[in-house]
Amino acid sequence: MSTYVLMKILESTASRYDRGLRLLTLGRLDRIYEHLTSPIKRGQKVLDIGCGTGSLTLRAAAKGATVKGIDVNPEMLSVARRRAEAARFSPEIEFAEMGVAELGSEPPESYDVVMSGLCFSELTADELAYTLKEINRILKPGGWLLVADEVRPQNPLKWLAHGLIRIPLVVITYIITQTTTHAVKDLPEKVREAGLIIKSLKPNKLGDFVELVARKPERQ
Ligand SMILES: C[S@@+](CC[C@H](N)C(=O)[O-])C[C@H]1O[C@@H](n2cnc3c(N)ncnc32)[C@H](O)[C@@H]1O
Repeated sequence: MSTYVLMKILESTASRYDRGLRLLTLGRLDRIYEHLTSPIKRGQKVLDIGCGTGSLTLRAAAKGATVKGIDVNPEMLSVARRRAEAARFSPEIEFAEMGVAELGSEPPESYDVVMSGLCFSELTADELAYTLKEINRILKPGGWLLVADEVRPQNPLKWLAHGLIRIPLVVITYIITQTTTHAVKDLPEKVREAGLIIKSLKPNKLGDFVELVARKPERQ
């Protein structure tokens, strides 16, 4: 899963992103996203942070939720809009060119679910801390946070293996895109620090990718 850093190359050609991603992950990400979105229910209000081409957004809409997908990349959003139109989900979905820095404009306690796939690893540590704090503010009491992303392994041997695989990929990605991703360090701790309660944590075998489900406490 260290290969997720190559996502940055795919993002620079948004029209080929979905096909490239499927090849890169051998379809694993589709299964992960299917599982991640399973708690979403009809009628819920959902925010997809860093929605890209809308893989999570469309899944949530298919479950009958009303979804807002935000992303800073207009090309990725155009692909997402086309996919939503083709699937006839346009009425249930709003796509906005908006970064995490603008989450302050979302009303408090307005979402049942906030989800994010492979976006936290594109944020700086400060952006991620701010984003998690904002997620806690905009979630309704008892609301859900659903995340799937690349993380830094805790186990030293896995961390070494992850680094050895990742460094050449980071160099290739940086040469092509002048950007890279940062496998998230201590994601569960950061989620807890933001005031959310972890409900489940599903790392892969190498410990460098995780599915995390957390909940905002009910009002006391
Ligand atoms: C690897 S893609 C994942 C897209 C989609 N969630 C998926 O799983 O296919 C990461 C996305 O995060 C977006 N992104 C990066 N930084 C962002 C920010 N500060 N605010 C909002 N979106 C951001 C990128 O533009 C990109 O579309």
